[in-house]
Parts: sequence; C-alpha cells; structure tokens
Amino acid sequence: MKNYNIEIITPIKLAPVVADEIVAAINDSIEEKGICNLVLAGGKTPGGIYRLLSKPPRVSQVDWSKVRLFWGDDRYVSKDDNASNYKLVKETLLSDINIPEANIIAFDTSFSTSQESATEYHNRIKKVFNINSVDELRFDVTLLGIGEDGHTASIFPNSTLINENEKIACASISPAAPKDRVTLSPKALFNSKNIYFIVKGDNKAKILDRILNSEESVQTIPAKLYEKASGKVTWFIDSEAGKFL
Ligand code: 6PG
Repeated sequence: MKNYNIEIITPIKLAPVVADEIVAAINDSIEEKGICNLVLAGGKTPGGIYRLLSKPPRVSQVDWSKVRLFWGDDRYVSKDDNASNYKLVKETLLSDINIPEANIIAFDTSFSTSQESATEYHNRIKKVFNINSVDELRFDVTLLGIGEDGHTASIFPNSTLINENEKIACASISPAAPKDRVTLSPKALFNSKNIYFIVKGDNKAKILDRILNSEESVQTIPAKLYEKASGKVTWFIDSEAGKFL
C-alpha cells in the first residue's frame, strides 16, 4: 500500500510551495496539541525554504514560541563552521524569528567525540518528550534531503545505523567530508506525523528514480527507509530531479 505522495513542482516554485506546506503542518500541530516538534534537514537544499519561513508573510503565520526545533543530523564541526547544519539554520531562520532559546534543540558538537554528542542528544530528547524509548518518540514534521548516493540525514549506504533499533541519535561516518557526523536514527526520523523529502536538481534525478521505482535494498539506498515510515510521506521534487519519474 502506497504510503507516500509525490509533488513535482517547477524549480522556482519548490521553495515557496514547501514553505507553505511546513507552515500549514506546524499550525495543524499547534491547533491539535499546542505545540509542533519540527525536525530540520541539513545540506544546501533547505536554506531557501528556511529563509522564506523567516520573512514576511510566513514568519508571522507561525507562533514560533510553540515550535520546538530539532536537527535531523549535523556534521561534527563547531557551530560556527560553514559546514555546520546548525549554522545554516541560524543564518537562514533563527536570526529572524522570535523563538525561545529552550525551543532550539540542536546537537551539541562541543564534546570530544561524536558518540558522546549523540548519546547526550538521545538523552536530552528523551527528557524533552518525557519518554523512555525511541518507540515512544513521535515528531510532528520531519524534513529530509537525499544525497546522490541514496543517503538521507547522515544515514549512509551499508551503514549499521540502517538497522539501529534502540537509539534516538547516533554517531555516523560520511564517505564525504566532513566525515564525522551525528544523526537521528531511522526510527526517530521516520516516526513522525509528516515526513517531507525536499529534492531539487538534475543531479538527484537518477537516485530519485532508484529510490521510488527500484527494488534495491534499503542497505544500498537508505532513503528507502521512507517505505517503513509510520507517518505521511510527501516527496517535494522539482521538475529537474523528477525527470525520470
Ligand atoms: C547533510 C544532510 C544530508 C542532505 C543531503 C542533500 O547534513 O548534508 O542532512 O542528508 O540532506 O546530503 O544535501 P543537499 O541539499 O546539499 O543536496
């Protein structure tokens, strides 16, 4: 049974369409339970979307005091490093929205190892949600990108993390620099009410076809983890990335 939708959008419209969908999902969650737990994607794709969320008219369409921001993954670098996903979000969103510091729940990359950071994030998320296990965790919106090798967040092909069942957050190694990463686990990422993949560019067309149309294994293509998602998955794809679909 298909558990996902595909929206193929002209390149110039992708960011505004996704930004509006995120605003709507945030407000649905706030209306339903007074809060929205939003997992942010890293990489280059979402920057334009975060900027749209941080500016009129959308910035005033959300009560940011009722939004808690989490990171799907980060590079294990300092927060002021240009490779940092935290820095990406700080520059494109955080600096322009009125959100309580306590609602910004990012990986702490000041530990001496990524493993210590992942363990601390695991424990902090358990405390924030007042839960004891990853199976009780449920985000409201999870944003994700995909790499040309089929990774998503920092879950890379043939990684042991693909079968991780207990942890909320893990250390990871990327084949491309920065190699040291921290990431939410598959269960944490995909146990979310709304999962939005955001994919743009001709360079993603081949891998996207393999993700959505091949029978290849999730070990080879971790982004195929979407097939096990417990929430509603929407692929927001620009017409260049979607040319083989
Ligand atoms: C990261 C991301 C990663 C990203 C994809 C796509 O830290 O790089 O979490 O999963 O979403 O690699 O990246 P682009 O948007 O830069 O193509």
